[in-house]
Amino acid sequence: MLVHTISEVREKVREWKKQGLTVGLVPTMGALHAGHKSLIDKSVEKCDKTVVSVFVNPIQFCPGEDLDKYPRTLDADEKLCNEAGVDIVFAPSPKEMYGEGHIMSNDFLTYVIPPFFYVNKLCGKSRVGHFDGVCTVVNKLFNIVQPDFAFFGEKDRQQLIILKKMVNDLNIPIEIISCPIVREESGLALSSRNKYLSEEDKKDALALSKILFNIKACYNKGVTDCNALTETAYSYLNQKHSLEYLEFRDENDLEEKKTADDGTIVFIALKIGEVRLIDNISLRA
Ligand code: PAF
Repeated sequence: MLVHTISEVREKVREWKKQGLTVGLVPTMGALHAGHKSLIDKSVEKCDKTVVSVFVNPIQFCPGEDLDKYPRTLDADEKLCNEAGVDIVFAPSPKEMYGEGHIMSNDFLTYVIPPFFYVNKLCGKSRVGHFDGVCTVVNKLFNIVQPDFAFFGEKDRQQLIILKKMVNDLNIPIEIISCPIVREESGLALSSRNKYLSEEDKKDALALSKILFNIKACYNKGVTDCNALTETAYSYLNQKHSLEYLEFRDENDLEEKKTADDGTIVFIALKIGEVRLIDNISLRA
């Protein structure tokens, strides 16, 4: 069932709660792929009812980013959700979410601001304000749907860690369930932004997963010095790649690691032309 208004979702969820049913929320920006499908499947399996939100959230895009060209495929998204057993697809307009006049600057809108230590690194460094927009919209979706469980992918690992922190710090009574990255057979992590890649770019994009898999293989052989592990990456890069970061950080609080251990996540961001791709891997076996 496709729903565009907050009041309709609220009414439905209220009925479910009266019947004692559990509710899962899968927040998305649409352009659904097998990665999203894995979150949806998990929710459908775990919860009595599942809501998938499809909302390209303007306030998490920085100036000059791809807000206007971000893929919007609501018909296909709705079909995928129906086939997967989703109960509600919630696809609000920006006006429905942020009100008349679309006044979305923080001069006028109450924002949820995650801690500086969590956002001043990795993607937060180049995407200033991005995680403020993410936390704000996810908080709104939590308040609108009031789910018992919310499902997020490990592909956006910094986002996942920040959202767990938000739920903890703000005592939000929702359990966050994290779901593993889904990869193409080639190793490429699925992402809605892969739609921007030509066949040629896709080959270049394999550098991300190759670098991460190789670092993990070296770690498994006993190399723990992060500088030495970083060195192994360069042979996978060519002139088309612009490496934004390759960093080793703690899986819970994003503290930098000099020596890798099982609780380390290796994060990478790479630009191929105009397309910016991210990936990460846990060094845990
Ligand atoms: O991961 C995403 O697709 C978005 O950041 C999210 C969590 C749906 C918030 O807009």
